[in-house]
Amino acid sequence: MVHGLGHNARMTTNAPVLTIDGPSGSGKGTISRRVAQRLGWHYLDSGALYRAVGVAAGWADLDLDDHGALVRCTFDTRIGFRDDAAGELRVLVNDVDATDELRTETAGAAASAIAAIPEIRAALKDRQRAFRQPPGLVADGRDMGTVIFPDAPFKVFMTASADERAQRRYKQLNDKGVSVTLDGLLREILARDARDAQRAVAPLRPADDAVHIDTTGLSIEDVVEQVLALVPREG
Ligand code: C5P
Repeated sequence: MVHGLGHNARMTTNAPVLTIDGPSGSGKGTISRRVAQRLGWHYLDSGALYRAVGVAAGWADLDLDDHGALVRCTFDTRIGFRDDAAGELRVLVNDVDATDELRTETAGAAASAIAAIPEIRAALKDRQRAFRQPPGLVADGRDMGTVIFPDAPFKVFMTASADERAQRRYKQLNDKGVSVTLDGLLREILARDARDAQRAVAPLRPADDAVHIDTTGLSIEDVVEQVLALVPREG
């Protein structure tokens, strides 16, 4: 399935939405994708939009303090999603496959800085809402349940201890042959959490009606089942 994110947001629908918000490393990316597959629903990786703008800004050599240029870059950047033959989600930035670059710590840090700019959050709102299509949407991010889809019928706030999140990330990067220290990762995670939670616009916080799931010590399958149990299904 190809999701082109052009400037003309498609009409939004009343299709059901399951929002999964939480800090990085809580497991929400993996869980959201699996839950979407099991439900046969669409999937929105909202962090990828902020990362894509960060990568595009890097390609254009923009200064992260130049908010005007970053806002223009947001409007000018084409962001597309498609599944490859192996069923992995690929992200296209201005028609270039930037999936691997998007996952780097540099892109994450740029995304987090960019995500604190209110005009950029506003510019990406309709692009995110356009993903709400039948039969349903699983939306993964920081403000899915609070700002983008406040009327979503199903909301989860997913956490895990900072130590466990650092360890998961360490393992992921080690498996990819990237050399990092656990201590350094823990520091980065805590700094990013603080920035995401303290920013003035759309800070990371649970929606009042979100179900909290702490994934520390739980397997992916356990969490997937807990989330699926929240969504009533026919048959
Ligand atoms: O989820 P991911 O780690 O890809 O997100 C990258 C950054 O984008 C986060 O640290 C956060 O600052 C920002 N973000 C956001 N709102 C979202 C999703 C991500 O502010 N809905």
